[in-house]
Amino acid sequence: MCGIVGYIGKEKALPKVLSGLKFLEYRGYDSAGVAYIYDNEIKITKEVGRINSLEKLLDLSIPSNIAIGHTRWATHGEVNIINSHPHKVGKFTVVHNGIIENYLKIKEKLQKEGIIFKSSTDTEVIPALLDYYYQKENNILKAIVKTINELEGSFALGIICDDDKNNLYAIRRGSPLIIAPSNDGIFIASDIPAILNYTNKYILLNENEIVKLSKNEYQIYDNKLNKIIKEIKIYEGSQDDAMLNGYDHYMLKEIHEEEKVFLDTFNYYVENNKFKDTMPNFKKYQNIHIVACGSAYYVGCIAKSLIENYANIPVYASVASEYRYQKNFYDQNTLVIIISQSGETADSLEALRKAKNDGIDTLAIVNVAMSSIAREAKYTLYVKAGPEIAVATTKAFLAQTTLIALLTIKLQGQNDLLKEFIGLEKHIRELLNRNYQEYAKIISKSNNTFFIGRLVDYALCLEGSLKLKETSYINSVAIQAGELKHGTISLITDNTLVIGICTKKDISSKTISNLKEVKARKANIIYITNEFIEDNFYDQIILLPKVNDIVMPILTVIPLQLIAYEVAKIRGCDIDKPRNLAKSVTVE
Ligand code: M6R
Repeated sequence: MCGIVGYIGKEKALPKVLSGLKFLEYRGYDSAGVAYIYDNEIKITKEVGRINSLEKLLDLSIPSNIAIGHTRWATHGEVNIINSHPHKVGKFTVVHNGIIENYLKIKEKLQKEGIIFKSSTDTEVIPALLDYYYQKENNILKAIVKTINELEGSFALGIICDDDKNNLYAIRRGSPLIIAPSNDGIFIASDIPAILNYTNKYILLNENEIVKLSKNEYQIYDNKLNKIIKEIKIYEGSQDDAMLNGYDHYMLKEIHEEEKVFLDTFNYYVENNKFKDTMPNFKKYQNIHIVACGSAYYVGCIAKSLIENYANIPVYASVASEYRYQKNFYDQNTLVIIISQSGETADSLEALRKAKNDGIDTLAIVNVAMSSIAREAKYTLYVKAGPEIAVATTKAFLAQTTLIALLTIKLQGQNDLLKEFIGLEKHIRELLNRNYQEYAKIISKSNNTFFIGRLVDYALCLEGSLKLKETSYINSVAIQAGELKHGTISLITDNTLVIGICTKKDISSKTISNLKEVKARKANIIYITNEFIEDNFYDQIILLPKVNDIVMPILTVIPLQLIAYEVAKIRGCDIDKPRNLAKSVTVE
């Protein structure tokens, strides 16, 4: 998703803005650009492709003290220099993260006023509208208010005006934006990693809050231009969180953090085999809806299995982009749980708002502190994964799965199962230290891979399949093992790769039968299980430690993640920034 960094201060702005943009690369982008003030003029440089290409076009030694930068992930208009940000119309130059839903209507109105548009983006209407209202109001803040009152959709904006070369302006609605004061100046940024090289202080902006920044101070306003004072927060993680620290890729680094992430999440909620106050009581809820996107939705599928089995509460898991438009049946005893690493995913956020509007209680399971979903839900449970930079989620998935297992036990109302977590970190470590090269080599040669499993194992198949698709671009399908013979088995021929996941003893014979059916069609089988059996239906076996079903998914996902990583590496893929993907999907 798009990323914004801006700086105003005593130092040279361009190196800081570019360094910040590099830390936002994980969000996914296809072009980048900067605007800066030099020689009393606003200069704009944009380039398609990586930030390094943009950097080559810039003289970083220029003594410019104000700059705004942007990484664009195309939504409206193809990837080219004209559509890249910043966009300038009249006296206003803008970088934008989000989507303006009513941009066509605004464009038409402004075209009638004689304004000419150069790009096919939705963003260009923003500087055009700012300029239009500025001509009427002759006041930048008032022009911003009038503009945002007319915009529908989501936006975080960095703004510079030709008539005010000593200030930078910013505003957010729906898309994330922080302000970060440092010793020599002030930043705006879409996310904390962008500023950690310079400061660990940050301020979270609420919806529709406007900021005016100068070299050494800032003023925040509400949308009626009343001044507001906001708390400065201190980021408690270290700068290392956003660094590779010797690893080739963030994905690998983050997978290797899973032992710590598991312990941090567990210890945040449990002490001496008892839940701490950090885990509220959800006893009153008799049915649960889980809503999320992508991998977070697959955690929701794991949750369905665990909560129904152990806590005896019906759970409906839905993808957020469907949930927000479908008819939902709930009552006052329904709890809607939104799972999201970033806490900013547009569909998940809207699903949360829909449930709230219907008067239903909501619980957010989120990694990023104070993100929109975390702030808007009635209850929030944080997973302790720390910043996740690689686009493909790994450690956050493991942390969410850990928290779901804990929540299941809380809903069940007995603490006995908490003992199953004790010592699990040793199994995590052992799985992380294994070598998965031989499996990765086989998978890297396959153009089509099938993951099959039942119930909770099917949820893990979905995650294994997505991890493979997104990082290595190998087509793969996850299917419920018993469903295979209703159509998909027609695709199984000589050497088709089938990965079978089977960790639940009570249904293992069923999944094994399905694997034998594909073996009879000469499939090549990798069998992932926690129970060794001597049989000839598989070609390769990955034997997992045998632990209680409540914690088993925490372990099962680890080889799936490491295999996806190794396969992507063999195939020379852009592992941390897969093509077309964004870390946090803040548009519908
Ligand atoms: O930030 P969220 O957890 O809400 O993101 C949801 C999905 O976009 C995310 O899990 C996505 O599927 C990842 N690329 C998976 O690796």
